[in-house]
Amino acid sequence: MANILTVEGYKVHISNRLSRLTKVIRSNDFSAIFILVDENTRRWCLPVLRNAVPALKDAFILEILSGEAQKTIETCRMLWIELQKRNADRQSLFINLGGGVIGDLGGFTASAYLRGIPFINIPTTLLAQIDASIGGKLGVDFNGVKNAIGFFKNPAAVFVHPGFLKTLPDDELLSGFAEMLKHALISSPAMWKEIKKIRDVSSLRDGITPLLIQKSLLVKKKIVEKDPLELNVRKVLNFGHTIGHAFESGALAERKKLLHGHAVALGMIAESHLSSQLTGLPEKQLHEITSFILHHYRKFYSEISDINWLRWIKYDKKSAQGRLNFTLLKSIGKPVVNCQCVEPEIDASVQFLKSKL
Ligand SMILES: NC(=O)c1ccc[n+]([C@@H]2O[C@H](COP(=O)([O-])OP(=O)(O)OC[C@H]3O[C@@H](n4cnc5c(N)ncnc54)[C@H](O)[C@@H]3O)[C@@H](O)[C@H]2O)c1
Ligand SMILES: [Zn+2]
Repeated sequence: MANILTVEGYKVHISNRLSRLTKVIRSNDFSAIFILVDENTRRWCLPVLRNAVPALKDAFILEILSGEAQKTIETCRMLWIELQKRNADRQSLFINLGGGVIGDLGGFTASAYLRGIPFINIPTTLLAQIDASIGGKLGVDFNGVKNAIGFFKNPAAVFVHPGFLKTLPDDELLSGFAEMLKHALISSPAMWKEIKKIRDVSSLRDGITPLLIQKSLLVKKKIVEKDPLELNVRKVLNFGHTIGHAFESGALAERKKLLHGHAVALGMIAESHLSSQLTGLPEKQLHEITSFILHHYRKFYSEISDINWLRWIKYDKKSAQGRLNFTLLKSIGKPVVNCQCVEPEIDASVQFLKSKL
């Protein structure tokens, strides 16, 4: 299998060698190069990148604190000031070296500055490598609402270096793994079968091969290419996310820690139950999905089990005209978009999840 994918015209290089980035830099006459990092990617990833790509030795490093709390317009403002100070112009290059926060925020910062300077994503978390780094969604959180301000704009290129995952903490790895599970559940019984073999975090580390990353990226590529602006088909990527976002919002409001992927994993159990009730997901598959996800993610629910989730589901941005819109499964690999559900059905699905804990 080739290790370069082309997504909507830009290249996604999947390789532990970053030498192709050298070629991109040498073949363009950039006036300046900026690399956005947080304290963790500065420590763990920047030395690897600089070592592999000596052409970056004069790049300016822009550092922000790690974490979702930094994904704000205030952080962008600080970065825009820095870009101005250093005379960044449209011939400058902006590199995002980090997880989804760096990618969403850095892409937005670069694309709004002077109406857009080119940016390259070098995702360093599993979530960013298989999900956030492609598809063109950029933005920041605003006024308590996640991703409230932003737009769609594609990177100039993406470099996925699976070696960066070596230093990623286990919980972060599991957060990204949830999106990989989702990609399998919405597209491929064969991929689901392959992933099901992963029984613990250490086999997860060994099992996430460049090939599996590539398969997962291919799922997202095919979907975003059919529907770049999320008008219809792309909604299949929302499987697990309607209830997952409610878990995330509730946890955020109660100041409990729940990573995006952990919320989505638990959301996929509840939404699989909804699928068994409404779109015919076979019972056997519901139990297969439930037991696999609980095996890996049960521990993340215990701390947040007393939150009233129904309160938060109403605020999900995917609920149009007061109705609740879900992506459900007919069977593993066969998603159905725009399924309308009512509150008692949703309540029953969260009760189903609780009954399994
Ligand atoms: N644009 C999209 O399509 C899209 C899709 C999904 C999620 N997202 C966004 O992505 C964000 C979540 O991304 P994330 O899960 O990557 O979180 P993150 O960017 O916060 O990274 C998680 C943590 O891992 C650290 N880290 C990153 N790489 C590391 C490495 N190689 N070694 C050690 N530590 C490392 C980071 O410093 C951070 O502390 C959310 O803001 C979400 O909204 C965007
Ligand atoms: Zn997600």
